[in-house]
Amino acid sequence: MGSPHWKRLCLLLLAGLTSSLLLYSHYHATVEAPSSPKIIASLLQPGPLVLAPSGTPQGAGSHRWALGGSLESGNSLKPSAELEEPEPSRKQPSPCLHSVMARAKADPTFREIFHFNTPVLMWDQHFTLETWNRLKTRHVPYGWQGLSLAVVGSTLQLLNASANRQLFDRAAFPGGCVRCAVVGNGGILNGSRQGKAIDSHDLVFRLNGAVIKGFEEDVGTKVSFYGFTVNTMKNSLVSYEEYGFTQVPQGKDLKYIFIPSDIRDYIMLKSAIQGSPVPEGSDKGDDPQKYFGLEASAEKFKLLHPDFLQYLTARFLRSELLNTQYSSLYMPSTGALMLLTALHTCDQVSAYGFITANYEQFSDHYYEVEKKPLVFYANHDMMLEAALWRSLHRAGIITLYQR
Ligand SMILES: *[C@@H]1O[C@H](CO)[C@@H](O)[C@H](O)[C@H]1NC(C)=O
Ligand SMILES: *[C@@H]1O[C@H](CO)[C@@H](O)[C@H](O)[C@H]1NC(C)=O
Repeated sequence: MGSPHWKRLCLLLLAGLTSSLLLYSHYHATVEAPSSPKIIASLLQPGPLVLAPSGTPQGAGSHRWALGGSLESGNSLKPSAELEEPEPSRKQPSPCLHSVMARAKADPTFREIFHFNTPVLMWDQHFTLETWNRLKTRHVPYGWQGLSLAVVGSTLQLLNASANRQLFDRAAFPGGCVRCAVVGNGGILNGSRQGKAIDSHDLVFRLNGAVIKGFEEDVGTKVSFYGFTVNTMKNSLVSYEEYGFTQVPQGKDLKYIFIPSDIRDYIMLKSAIQGSPVPEGSDKGDDPQKYFGLEASAEKFKLLHPDFLQYLTARFLRSELLNTQYSSLYMPSTGALMLLTALHTCDQVSAYGFITANYEQFSDHYYEVEKKPLVFYANHDMMLEAALWRSLHRAGIITLYQR
């Protein structure tokens, strides 16, 4: 590494990239640890990954690169194992009775579907030439086709805190069994009186129009994570304002989970970390502190890895919609992505406010005053999600709240 050969190769590769890169006069390249390509290779294996990119991994050559850096000699690098270890959330078997992982491994169907080593989050060290070249061939929501290299790169570069590599710190849970509740916004929660049960979990995930005020008895008050895309967050603030969703949940210990689905998400994330107004695009002029509070720092924000979202979509929620004209619009719902994220990071997971077989008995959301039927958006597949929650519940992998 650091040899003239590498430098020549990198210069050649850089020369072929988009003009936005020309804004940057410096770069650095290092050789990536072997662990990272392995993870990517596992996502590229032939199998049920309909959404998998068509390209093949670039042999052994996987180069870490970053914008705005400078040439570094190999000697100045940290040991690669220390740098690149993706810190899977559960290296050790969990001490929990009936953990997600134990139950999944015991189930003949889910054993084949779960890949617990898939990296959940993306952070600065994932921004490699190999990753850029691979993801730019895949369209949004979970690829980078058409996205600006400068925007994506400069955003990822800010995700350099250790907190960006894991959803939560296991050391904070000495019992070793992390119990999570994921709270969807379904009408089943109206009058449920599940607030105490929800808040008794170690970590509580909420999303989109998560109204709390006035519904504490039914949905609790604790928020450890709030998950969203910029699109769903802003739509929720408009659509559910009349029900009291006037502000995104904020709090000192609350972390935000960005679901990248568009360039908007990268632009907003960068502005949020920098604590400055959005400089460009459809959210231009937005003040991120209005959404996320005054604390602007990398520690506050998590970015789901596009490969993780791709893996979830392809293996858990591969909808027939992918075979229709809506294929490029299809995404699992925000709730589904949060619940599946919890399943890949927590030891035990309870799901509240998610679609059940008797969904017709309930309103769309728990906070509506008059019953409204569940809205089926063309870009989601709620029946497939309902079937997945039912199967996961039957397999003992989640506890699905039903009534
Ligand atoms: C992360 O990057 C920022 C900006 O480049 C820098 O100021 C900060 O010291 C870095 N933090 C860590 C933990 O490396
Ligand atoms: C929710 O529950 C309250 C109190 O039980 C009831 O008045 C209201 O109509 C319910 N909302 C819906 C949409 O069912």
